[in-house]
Amino acid sequence: MATPPAGPVQAPALQLAMSGLLARALFSVTERGILDLLPEGPLGSAEIAGKTGAHPAAMHQVADPFPETLDTGWSGVEPAFGEPWFEHLHARSEQAASFNRMMVGIHGTEPAAVAQASDFTGIGHLVGVGGGIGTLLRAVLEANPGLRGTLFDLPGVVDQARENPAGLGERSAVATGGFFDGVPAGADAYLLSHVVHDWDEAECRTIL
Ligand SMILES: C[S@@+](CC[C@H](N)C(=O)[O-])C[C@H]1O[C@@H](n2cnc3c(N)ncnc32)[C@H](O)[C@@H]1O
Repeated sequence: MATPPAGPVQAPALQLAMSGLLARALFSVTERGILDLLPEGPLGSAEIAGKTGAHPAAMHQVADPFPETLDTGWSGVEPAFGEPWFEHLHARSEQAASFNRMMVGIHGTEPAAVAQASDFTGIGHLVGVGGGIGTLLRAVLEANPGLRGTLFDLPGVVDQARENPAGLGERSAVATGGFFDGVPAGADAYLLSHVVHDWDEAECRTIL
């Protein structure tokens, strides 16, 4: 088996960039008195929510730096921007392009490692759902010469994928749309990478 790629060179910079968010999340739970509950022993997220009045889903994953998130369970994006994140990006093509490039940077060597480690035997047609500009799908196609792929994402994102000089390769097509309305039908497998964490439980069920 081939040697897995080395860790991403950008990891230290990413850690620094994310540390502000982690510090803010820690502040939010401290301010709410949640840490004061824990010396008596570990508590599950539902128990903490029950004792503090926080929203159970928010307690399950305190990944957002906004105190409002603890009460509502909403993403911190809505209080900050007044609209859901992907709607916000959709209306701002430069920020969207920057976000899509960031996705490629943040995952670093992950697509090649996933492509190497995964067995796509028996799959002829693979759809990359919410596949961004197609970095993972391209890596999987390169590692599996018998496979063809379709990149599926929102229209602006797919436009950027089309303009990507690295391209998606000859065995690929693109399709645009929203995964809450449906995905391209008839493929043998559907690939989701870094997608479901953006949505709540009910939305994840719909996507899956
Ligand atoms: C966090 S990014 C992950 C991108 C890529 N899969 C990766 O691993 O880098 C989430 C992706 O979901 C896409 N997305 C968000 N809402 C969508 C929707 N309703 N339908 C299809 N794609 C959507 C975004 O445009 C974005 O490319």
